[in-house]
Amino acid sequence: MNVLRGMGGPRYRHQASNGMPYETISIDPLTPVIGAEIGGIDLTQPLSDAQFAEIERALAEFQVIFFRGQKLRPADHLGFGRRFGELHIHPAAPHAEGEPALMRIHADQTSKRANGEGWHSDVSCDAEPPMGSILHVHTCPPQGGDTLFASMYAAYEALSERMKGYLDGMAAVHDGEPVYRGTYANFGVADKPSYPRAEHPVVRTHPVTGRKALYVNRGFTTELLGVPPDEGGAVLQYLFDHAENPLFQCRFRWTENAVAFWDNRCTQHRAMWDYWPHTRSGHRVTVQGERPV
Ligand code: SIN
Repeated sequence: MNVLRGMGGPRYRHQASNGMPYETISIDPLTPVIGAEIGGIDLTQPLSDAQFAEIERALAEFQVIFFRGQKLRPADHLGFGRRFGELHIHPAAPHAEGEPALMRIHADQTSKRANGEGWHSDVSCDAEPPMGSILHVHTCPPQGGDTLFASMYAAYEALSERMKGYLDGMAAVHDGEPVYRGTYANFGVADKPSYPRAEHPVVRTHPVTGRKALYVNRGFTTELLGVPPDEGGAVLQYLFDHAENPLFQCRFRWTENAVAFWDNRCTQHRAMWDYWPHTRSGHRVTVQGERPV
């Protein structure tokens, strides 16, 4: 963490898109590192090719982008997701009736838990984890229910050169079993016989930006391969703590019908369940990704 001290603040900025202006959308960055609010677009309408290209560019640049006041119907939400790729079906979570790709995100007075309360990258236990997730929240609590996002580019870039060398070429196990078994019983969802488990590189290269990102998360990563378990456990613990440094984060305060679109290949996120007994409700559409390299 010494890299961050005494050097005039964080240097792990989102990469400007070569000064190229955006013409179909407005951009309001949340922090110098991650996150931007996008304006001037109505996601209930089909995207023009120019709008689509600029949203894709903004996602690559800011890692998570936000849209406010989007009264999406399920078909709009699914259609927006499909512009970015095939949709991912969650291995465990409940979904809207008849729409397996429309995952329910809901907590209320009767809830024993809420989705995504710990830091994670969505379904990183899949062999081909989701590229991105698009969350639409239609019902917000009076306060709270924010989502925190962290840049794994920033986390990687802030590691010491020695640690980068140590992690180079290393793989880790991501296991869905401890995360998903029994988790959705409160929604009446029965457990599957088994859940996904995969091995992924600890540092992955983003297929669009070419930047390196730290790819271990407290939610799913259980083991570093090729080193003794006590050493792997200690290093993982260090990496989890490191990835959660607030310098790498932005925090989104939801308003009704806001949308967040995050890139799971270079971010982690964590939802705050600080609003019980109030209700927070919406749906997530998740876009399939590729095998991390
Ligand atoms: C999730 O998709 O992990 C939930 C995020 C949220 O509810 O803010």
